Amino acid sequence: MQTTFSFKRNRMKLIVVSNREPYKVERAGGKLRLEKTVGGLVSALEPVLRKNGGIWICWGRKGQKNPFETKITESFLMKQVSLTSRDVTEYYYGYANETLWPLCHMFLNRTRFDSKYWLGYRRVNRKFAKAVMEVYTPGSKVLVNDYHLALVPALLREKGVEDPIHLFWHIPFPPYFMLRFLPNRRDILEGMLGADVIGFHTEHYVQNFRECVREILGAVYDDFAIYWQGRKIRVVAVPIGIDSQRWSSLVSNPKVVRYALSLRKKLSVEFVGIGVDRLDYTKGIEEKFKGLERFFEKYPSFRGRVSFIQIAAPTRTKLEEYMDIKRRTDEIVGRIEGRFGEPGWVPIYYYYKNYGDERLASLYMMADFALVTPLIDGLNLVSKEYVMSKVDEDGVLILSEFAGASLQLREGALIVNPFDEDAVAEAIYSALKMKKREKRERMKALRKRVIEEDVHWWLKNFLEDVSA
Ligand code: UDP
Ligand code: G6P
Repeated sequence: MQTTFSFKRNRMKLIVVSNREPYKVERAGGKLRLEKTVGGLVSALEPVLRKNGGIWICWGRKGQKNPFETKITESFLMKQVSLTSRDVTEYYYGYANETLWPLCHMFLNRTRFDSKYWLGYRRVNRKFAKAVMEVYTPGSKVLVNDYHLALVPALLREKGVEDPIHLFWHIPFPPYFMLRFLPNRRDILEGMLGADVIGFHTEHYVQNFRECVREILGAVYDDFAIYWQGRKIRVVAVPIGIDSQRWSSLVSNPKVVRYALSLRKKLSVEFVGIGVDRLDYTKGIEEKFKGLERFFEKYPSFRGRVSFIQIAAPTRTKLEEYMDIKRRTDEIVGRIEGRFGEPGWVPIYYYYKNYGDERLASLYMMADFALVTPLIDGLNLVSKEYVMSKVDEDGVLILSEFAGASLQLREGALIVNPFDEDAVAEAIYSALKMKKREKRERMKALRKRVIEEDVHWWLKNFLEDVSA
């Protein structure tokens, strides 16, 4: 398909490669309707491509022509790689989300090893590498993303890419004692080491990765790099950020403010809490609700005065693990409603659907506290979005110590162990009792950090010469 497509002047060509597509596209009456997809990777990178331009290579739906191209702006092209249903089963649901995702998040009991999955993963990684080569020209900057595409960096190198290849791993990287269970651990590491620069959100993940390449491949490393087959690969910890300007403008949008005020009024309780997560077992939604239950048990005087709103965005719904977490979450919400709810008061409002960022901004804005309590999370952008939405500085972030973002946000947030329901209950109590002045000081510190280390800071530090 021939497209008229130009890069912003004086910028090198940026090629972003990820499994998830940034938009679902609908064409109606000759017009394009773009709906942004849900997840941290897309939330972070979409504003970058909108601003800087570039090509985004991502998966495509069955039946789409291959390659399928959509011009998003004059300088931003989305190019989708067509996957068969077998590809989707073996590569996406299978190896990516039933093997690597649980293993990297340390859920060995949820990890499935299946040689068919591996073959599918290899096949699809090759398809992605081929799609990159179709648009690559010397001087391009290639940014490969996440655990779906670990083999792509080495495949690109084999195909002759000489420019630096960047790989960013958006989820935790497991320690050696976990990765060693993976039958294809060597291939995964060798695939990743095809990159010149590999980024993770935290130093812990960097350290885990170094140990894995030493123990499994016999590679050596120092503080700056890994040395492998005569090459030097830089490994860095650079936590991704949000587009802080976009969130600032969202919360000054009159429509967003109006909705926040009217919703708050309708809820007619003294305090409101918010949670926004994909309905994933790593997000600890069940444990969060147990913490809320404990809070209402321990502090009966708050019954009738606090409501909690949980957005649980559907995700990977074909997998048994995700159906199971949905059943369990529905059950626990029902139990809490039955136990504490009364006519005129709802303890937990629970919505199993996706919301756009305008609606999320209103929800964050009007909430007195946010409960962001993943059991383990590569980073967690929701915590940063809540902070950017609290322009009045009158809110408290309760954050899991096992979210990568806790390293950046620990000064202002109340840090909890999400497995400890008493600790979660106590943190909610502290948030509700906190003096305005302390809230303001904490929120100020948080906002400063989120603004300073936003997505453009990340881009500059990770890709260095791609100006943001
Ligand atoms: N999100 C969204 N709509 C929803 C729920 C979540 O757009 O209904 C977005 C949310 O604003 C955030 C991202 O999805 O930008 C979730 O990123 P995070 O890093 O918190 O977790 P992930 O889903 O990537 O594991
Ligand atoms: C995490 C992963 C992303 C993924 C997102 C949503 O953030 O790091 O790569 O896109 O979850 O998951 P999904 O399976 O819907 O793409």
